[in-house]
Amino acid sequence: MTEQVGTDPQYDDFADEYLDHARDGFYNAHYDRPACLDLLGDVSGRRVLDAACGPGLYAHELVERGATVTGVDISPRMIELASERVPSGEFRVHDLGEPLDWLPDSSMDLVLLALALEYLDNRMGALRELRRVLRPDGALVLSRMHPTGDWLRHGGDYFTPRVIDEVWSKGWRVRHWVSPLERTCEELHDAGFLVERLLEPRPTPEAAALDPGRYERLTREPTGFLAIRAVPDPRLPEQG
Ligand SMILES: C[S@@+](CC[C@H](N)C(=O)[O-])C[C@H]1O[C@@H](n2cnc3c(N)ncnc32)[C@H](O)[C@@H]1O
Repeated sequence: MTEQVGTDPQYDDFADEYLDHARDGFYNAHYDRPACLDLLGDVSGRRVLDAACGPGLYAHELVERGATVTGVDISPRMIELASERVPSGEFRVHDLGEPLDWLPDSSMDLVLLALALEYLDNRMGALRELRRVLRPDGALVLSRMHPTGDWLRHGGDYFTPRVIDEVWSKGWRVRHWVSPLERTCEELHDAGFLVERLLEPRPTPEAAALDPGRYERLTREPTGFLAIRAVPDPRLPEQG
C-alpha cells in the first residue's frame, strides 16, 4: 500500500485500449456518460472544462451538443487522442494537482470531472481550482467509483481513505484512492461547493443487450459509479 497515487501518467500505457473500451462499452457509454450528461444539462453555447478528459469521448458529445470544450489530462497520449477526435477543442497536458493558471477566474460555465477524482492526491487544490475557473452560476459535474463497490471489493476500514493498486479490464494496472462518500461531500464543501444532486446511476435499457448479467446486477447493486452535480456556494464571497 502507498500513500500517494503520484504523477506518473498511468493511463498513457493503455490510452488507446481505454478509447476502444470506453467508446461504446457498458460502463462508459451506457452507465457513466448518460448520468453525467444528464447532470450537465443543456450545454449549447456553454464553455465546458473537461478535466481529465481522457481520449475525448465526453468532449465529442459536448461539442456535438453545441458546447465549446477545453480539455486537460495528465496523459500525453490521451491528449493526442482527444485532439484527433475533437479538432475544435482546446486540449492540453496538465496535472490537475497543479494550478490551472492559464485559465482566468470565472471563465467556464461548466466543469466536468468524470471518473478521475480517485487519481488526485491533491483533491482539495484541484477542486478549489475548478471552483475558481467556474462562473458563480456554473456547475461542476463529477463521477467517481461508488464507494460501496470499493468497500465490497477491498473490505477493511470504509471510513479511512487509502490508495489501492488494482488490475482492471485488459490487464491495466491502476493506482487510485478509495474514500467514503462523506469524504467526497466534505471535500466539495471545503472547496466552496454545494451538492445540488447526487445520482446512483442505473445502466441504460440498451445495456441489457450488451451484458445481461452485468445489467441485472447494476440495476440492483451500488457497485459501479456515482455522479454529483455541485454548484458554487452563493453564500461565500466571490473569488478572484
Ligand atoms: C478513467 S479515465 C476517465 C477519462 C474521461 N474523463 C472519461 O470519462 O472518458 C481517467 C483519466 O484521468 C486522467 N488523470 C489521472 N490523473 C490525473 C491528473 N492528476 N491530472 C489530470 N488527469 C489525470 C487519466 O490520464 C485518464 O485519462
